[in-house]
Amino acid sequence: MSIRLTIISGGKSDLIETEYGDTLLKILRDKAYSVYAPCGGRGICGKCTVNVKGKGKIRSCTFYPERDLEISLPETGKAVILTSQSLNLEEMPFEKKIKQPFTTKPFGVAVDIGTTTVVMYFLDMLNGKTVKTSSFLNPQKTFGADVITRIEYCQKNRDGLKELQTSLIKEINKYLDDFTEQMNCSQENIEIMAFAGNTTMLHILLGEDPVPIALAPFTPKFTDKQIRRAINTRLSINPDGSVITLPCVSAYVGSDIVAGLSALKDSHTNYLYVDIGTNGEIALVNKDRIFMCSTAAGPAFEGSNISCGMAAVSGAISAYPGFGRYEVIGNTEPSGICGSGILDIVAYLLVNNLIDETGLMKEPFIVYPENDIKIIQDDIREIQLAKSAIYSGIRVLMNLAGLTFNDVEALFLAGGFGNYIRTDSALLTGLLPGELKDRIYPVGNSAGFGVLQYLRSEHFGEKINRILRKTKYIELSGLDEFTTEFALNMDFRTG
Ligand code: FES
Repeated sequence: MSIRLTIISGGKSDLIETEYGDTLLKILRDKAYSVYAPCGGRGICGKCTVNVKGKGKIRSCTFYPERDLEISLPETGKAVILTSQSLNLEEMPFEKKIKQPFTTKPFGVAVDIGTTTVVMYFLDMLNGKTVKTSSFLNPQKTFGADVITRIEYCQKNRDGLKELQTSLIKEINKYLDDFTEQMNCSQENIEIMAFAGNTTMLHILLGEDPVPIALAPFTPKFTDKQIRRAINTRLSINPDGSVITLPCVSAYVGSDIVAGLSALKDSHTNYLYVDIGTNGEIALVNKDRIFMCSTAAGPAFEGSNISCGMAAVSGAISAYPGFGRYEVIGNTEPSGICGSGILDIVAYLLVNNLIDETGLMKEPFIVYPENDIKIIQDDIREIQLAKSAIYSGIRVLMNLAGLTFNDVEALFLAGGFGNYIRTDSALLTGLLPGELKDRIYPVGNSAGFGVLQYLRSEHFGEKINRILRKTKYIELSGLDEFTTEFALNMDFRTG
C-alpha cells in the first residue's frame, strides 16, 4: 500500500510517495532528508523527533506512518568551520606534487572526515593556494552519532555499508560540483583527493567492511595508506585521478590523529596531543617514543548522550559564564547545549555547590526555560564517565613514558571541542590535569590542516612516516591500571 507524505523542511514543502511498512526515519533517510538520529534508530535517545500534523512531536524511528500525513522537520544547524590558524601548526613550503597534471589547471582537495563534521579544502595544485574551504555536517548522523552505532548499522542491515557510504559520497560530490561550477572548470580538473579521518570513517568511505573494528581483537581491514583510482570510488573527480587515505594507527586511532600530530611545529620535546570527540584520542610524545591510545569517552562531549545535548553547530550553547549568561553558536536562539557549554555548566554547578564532589545533583538545572533546555542528573553522570576516561588515559600514558606533569611542556587540544572549551572549566571538572594549567593550547582543526599539508608537500608524508615509526599503540581496555585510574577519577576532585 502506498501513502503520501508532505514534508516541510527548510521553508520548502515536498510531496513524497512511499510504501507502507517502514519507520518514518527510514523513509526520510531513503528520500535524503537529514534527521539527527544519535542512537541509530533504537528508540533510546529521543532526538529524532519531528512534528506530525495532528499528532505533535513524535520519534521518527519508532513511528510507522499508516496514512497520508504532513510532517515538519526541525531546522538542522549549520556546521561551523574552524578557520583560525594556530601558531603551533606548521605550514609546509609548497612543492608541485602532481608532476604531470592531466589538465592545465589542476586542483586537489584535502578532506577531514569527522564523525560529526566534514571539512573540505580546495587547493590550486600549481601554486599551493587554498582557493576555498567548505564544511558540512556528516550526513551519516542520521544512522547514529558515533562510530559504534554506525558500524552496528552496517552489521544489521544488508545494504547498511552501501547506504552510509553513499550518503557521504553524495554530499562530498555536491560540494565538488559546487566548486567546479564556481571555478568554471570541470571535474577533470580535480586530480587528487586526500582524506584524513578516524579508521571507521575511512573504511566506510572506501566501502570496506568496518565491522571488525567493533569486534575483539579490533583488527581493521587496513591501517596503512590507501591509494585508489578515482574511477573506483564514485567521487566526482578526474576518473584517472588519485584518492588517498592517510595512514591510521589502530582501530580507534585514525589518520586524523596522525595528520594532526604531524602538523604540529617541532618546537617541544615532551608534549601531549588530545583530541576529544566521540572518542578521546591521546598521544604522548617524548624524545624517542610516541604513546597513543583511544579512550572510550563516549559521545557526551559531542552532545549525544546528554538530554539537551547537540553538536557544536548553530543554535548550540557553547559557553556558560554563569548566572544565566550564555553564548550561542551563530548568535541564534538556543536549541541545545554542545560539549563546551555542558562542561561550563558543570563547572558552574560545582563552584556554586549545586552538585557535590561525587556528582550528586539536588535538582535539574534549568539553562533556558523557553526551550526546556536543562541539565539533569544523568547528564552529570555521562560527563563524569567521559572526563574520567580522558584524564585516566593521560595518566596511563604518562606512567608508561615515565614522565611527570612537570616534564610536559605543552598539551595541544585538537578539534572543535578543544577550540571552544574554556580551560578553566576543563581544569575545574578534572577533564584535564590542573598541573598543566598554563600550558594548554587549542590547535583548531589540526587534522584538516595536516591533510592539506600532505597535498602541499612530499615532506609531510615523510613526517607522517617518522611519527608512525616512533608510535606505540596502547590498548587501554585490557589494562588494570586504566580500570583503577578510571574508578579513581570519577569524582570531581582531580582538577
Ligand atoms: S530515539 Fe530515534 S534515533 Fe534515537
